[in-house]
Amino acid sequence: IGDKLLSIRGFVFPESSKESLTPQYMDSLQTFQIRDDDVYVVTFPKSGTVWTQRILTLLYEDEFPEAVDQTSIDLMPWLEFPQPEHDYPNRRCPRLFCSHLPERLMPRGLQGKAKIIYVRRNPKDIMVSYFHFTHYLKILERSESYNAVMDEFLNGRMIGGCWFDHIKGWYINKDKYNILFLSYEEMIRDLKGAVLKICKFLGKNVSDDVIDSVVKKTCFTNMKKDPKANYAFLPDDVADSGKGAFLRKGMKT
Ligand code: PPS
Repeated sequence: IGDKLLSIRGFVFPESSKESLTPQYMDSLQTFQIRDDDVYVVTFPKSGTVWTQRILTLLYEDEFPEAVDQTSIDLMPWLEFPQPEHDYPNRRCPRLFCSHLPERLMPRGLQGKAKIIYVRRNPKDIMVSYFHFTHYLKILERSESYNAVMDEFLNGRMIGGCWFDHIKGWYINKDKYNILFLSYEEMIRDLKGAVLKICKFLGKNVSDDVIDSVVKKTCFTNMKKDPKANYAFLPDDVADSGKGAFLRKGMKT
């Protein structure tokens, strides 16, 4: 698809990830062994993934005290983009993963006790965010205009593939999963409420102080300054820090 995107089974991703995301790996995910205490954040790209990822990694900090210096992505990597240093089958528990995969490509074993938090966002804001992302990420072909990005969105020619299929697949199959649906907009409106909802869903008993600290650390302004969570750690051949930032504006229209 275009110069810098590939599609496997309808899932679209940057060509630069082709070494790790092979058709064989994608197919092997169908039988990836799920553990009951696994937690997955699932999103269509630009919908609030790294924000929710940070909330989760902070909420689990007490279980991984030795990992406080690790970045969000080390603590909660993407299922479909395995890094050689991450031993997915044998990660310590609870295993935390992010994923942009549509429902039909996720491990079948997820239809059980493992927890999924699905975050959606107003597609108009996804398009605007993605437009800027294509200018920031060197590994993507730049969208020339908002009209062009809308065209890419409507035709599923962007990372993640087709937004409509993504949303539909997860919603119509929701009863098969242990899943919490959240929206980017409700997180903007009431971050503390969203964090409390997440804790309740995870069955995590955390003190008011921890909740307040997570909320404080994950508000846009503070998270943008947090080197473990702001993705400024992306290498120079991937991102162009002169052209923007991963945490760009953090608003809803
Ligand atoms: S990706 O590439 O799919 O992983 O991107 P994703 O993390 O899903 O989405 C990026 C957008 O989320 C915004 N963001 C936040 N908004 C509010 N508060 C916090 N803490 C926060 N962290 C990330 C980020 O700024 C992107 O949105 P835009 O509209 O581009 O600012």
